Amino acid sequence: MQGNDVEVAVKLQMSLGECPLWSAAEQTLYWVDIRRGQIFSWQPGKGGDPDRFDIGEPVSCLALGEHGLVAAAASGIQKVVTRPELGREQLAANPEWHDKGNRFNDGRCDARGRLWVGTIDANEVSPSAALYCLTGHELVKQKTALVISNGLAFSPDRQWLYHTDSLTRRVVRHRFDVDSGRIGEPQVWIDLAEHDLPGVPDGAAVDGEGNYWCALYDGGQVARFAPDGRWIESYPVPCPHPTMVAFGGSDLRTLYITTATQHLDEAGKQRWPLAGSVFALNAPTQGLEEPVFAG
Ligand code: BGC
Ligand code: CA
Repeated sequence: MQGNDVEVAVKLQMSLGECPLWSAAEQTLYWVDIRRGQIFSWQPGKGGDPDRFDIGEPVSCLALGEHGLVAAAASGIQKVVTRPELGREQLAANPEWHDKGNRFNDGRCDARGRLWVGTIDANEVSPSAALYCLTGHELVKQKTALVISNGLAFSPDRQWLYHTDSLTRRVVRHRFDVDSGRIGEPQVWIDLAEHDLPGVPDGAAVDGEGNYWCALYDGGQVARFAPDGRWIESYPVPCPHPTMVAFGGSDLRTLYITTATQHLDEAGKQRWPLAGSVFALNAPTQGLEEPVFAG
């Protein structure tokens, strides 16, 4: 492990902080607390406390929209406006919510503004979840038999879609055709066991050079992998459960990291008093702007 310059950006005790998302247009960082059903927004330049919006159900994944955000809430994917007050409009229902109780989990938009978002098995044990792609209002299933869909990202040349079913401890890549939105068969790209890395792969972001920055949940670190899947370096985080990363700041050189307290007992919370906060590190590489959802 190397590098030790991870700092607290916003001190919080979120249960399951997730999905940091930088809006370059608004110079604003958004993120969620999935379990508490809250969306946060915060402008680093202004300092102060983040704004928070309760949406009344779990919310796991955010994307930029043309007028606000797109949010994958438990019951469905919605357009969300946070100003001047909270407004929501359903784009697509979650087909796994009513019968299986599986909420949405990690996702992001591809370069054409399709939203790729997966679900998570309600008990995080059975392969009952899936990966979907939302184009406009049409939600199409892309992969099945997943337990915890995570780590969705794209290579900057748009040739690859990266994805993980966290408990496999592997990140796979699929050939990606950005015009049709089709993906090929999975190939194992990163295997944490091979690199002797702890935890499971959770959320990720790709930088301008194609490195894959991945939060290792229960591994207490963010790991950087080269475009060929090689491990380059890790940054320890002062709590065991980092969940996802996003490049932000005016130059896209700050890596924001969300974290969770959900798997800590009382002793763990005392040992890791900063768990559940948003952290930041000065990244050695520059991030990419997130595409906006089309439609
Ligand atoms: C999920 C959590 C899960 C974690 C580790 C996250 O994406 O939202 O519920 O515990 O991944 O697999
Ligand atoms: Ca995640």
